[in-house]
Amino acid sequence: MNFQLRLPLSILGIFLLALGGCNSGSKNQSAETTNSQATDSTATASQEVSLPAKADFQNTISGKKTDLYVLKNKNNVQAAITNYGGRLVSLLVPDKAGKMTDVIVGFDKLQPFTEGADTYFGALIGRYGNRIAKGKFTLDGKTYTLATNNGPNHLHGGKVGFSRVIWDANQTNDSTLVLTYVSKDGEEGYPGTLTSKVTYTLSSANELKIAYEATTDKKTVLNLTNHSYFNLNGAGSGTILDHQLQINADRYTPVDSTLIPTGKIEALAGTPLNFKKATIIGDRINDTHQQIKFGKGYDHNYVLATQRSATLKPAAAVLGDKSGIYMEVSTQEPGIQFYSGNFMTGSNQIKGGKKDEYRSAFCLETQHFPDSPNQRNFPSTVLAPGQTYKTSSVYKFSVKQ
Ligand code: BGC
Repeated sequence: MNFQLRLPLSILGIFLLALGGCNSGSKNQSAETTNSQATDSTATASQEVSLPAKADFQNTISGKKTDLYVLKNKNNVQAAITNYGGRLVSLLVPDKAGKMTDVIVGFDKLQPFTEGADTYFGALIGRYGNRIAKGKFTLDGKTYTLATNNGPNHLHGGKVGFSRVIWDANQTNDSTLVLTYVSKDGEEGYPGTLTSKVTYTLSSANELKIAYEATTDKKTVLNLTNHSYFNLNGAGSGTILDHQLQINADRYTPVDSTLIPTGKIEALAGTPLNFKKATIIGDRINDTHQQIKFGKGYDHNYVLATQRSATLKPAAAVLGDKSGIYMEVSTQEPGIQFYSGNFMTGSNQIKGGKKDEYRSAFCLETQHFPDSPNQRNFPSTVLAPGQTYKTSSVYKFSVKQ
């Protein structure tokens, strides 16, 4: 990609400029900033956007320490992740002018993540991503009851879920963070002691990979995902309605008025939900199609495959209209939930002193289909003792001029 070529050239430019400064014998203040920012190819950009302060994430909750961990690569791309809910807090990537842009919408300190109703900003979601109808499912003849925390249904793992627990963190190097969490048998009503390991890796090709692994000691259901809210023009820069989206799906799982799948798998062709061809998100978002009305916009599971794939497959791609930032999502999962921020109300203050305005972010949650434990014709989400749940998804960043 041409932007990858441009970075070393601009680094060379900055180096030459710095050399010029040294000649005068004066010490350049900005050259004294932290290591990562000192090599920033875009000196002005690094002043405009920075990572949240580590200190604002350091605390002790229920006897466990919380912190902010930073992954970085040679292109000065940086990902900040907190072990509180395993949340992706910030992701700085270059735009088409080389300016570093934070594409993650959310808070810049720990406290608001811990208070009020969960927005799921950047969070790891478990045990079950999206909804389970009426908070009930039956496994081997036994019915399990979960919290109904979203109208009549169970959403994103329940009252606490994995988004509000403290994960054990181990940053093994500059590019890798390993998070582990042991969920007790019966936690949130789910059977089995579940041991989960999630690894965030930032590659030199500007890819953020999230790899999930889990084992259980009793048969259970499981659907882990990440709930990052993206704005490719930068967090707090307005709506995502002019972003262009492409989703590699011919079919989707229509829902009822409470956003529970009807069980049918229907064709997207001819509907305003079809993104097979890259389309501006806002073009059809207010269509009178019943599914768009139920979702209050887009809030649907797109069918990528009939089962988990052994390898990563391209799932979706999004282009930020102003920034030229291009995000490609690939996954092993059979589904992807496209949520267009329809429940964002502007009531939360997010990073940069901005508000989480209506539709100012979108989510692309790679996953198994919602309510699979109650749907016979959906790919199974059952995990049995002796099996290892293993899946991964990648968010890759480049630019289009
Ligand atoms: C769901 C939405 C929900 C949002 C925030 C998405 O995954 O599909 O319905 O409002 O998460 O909780």
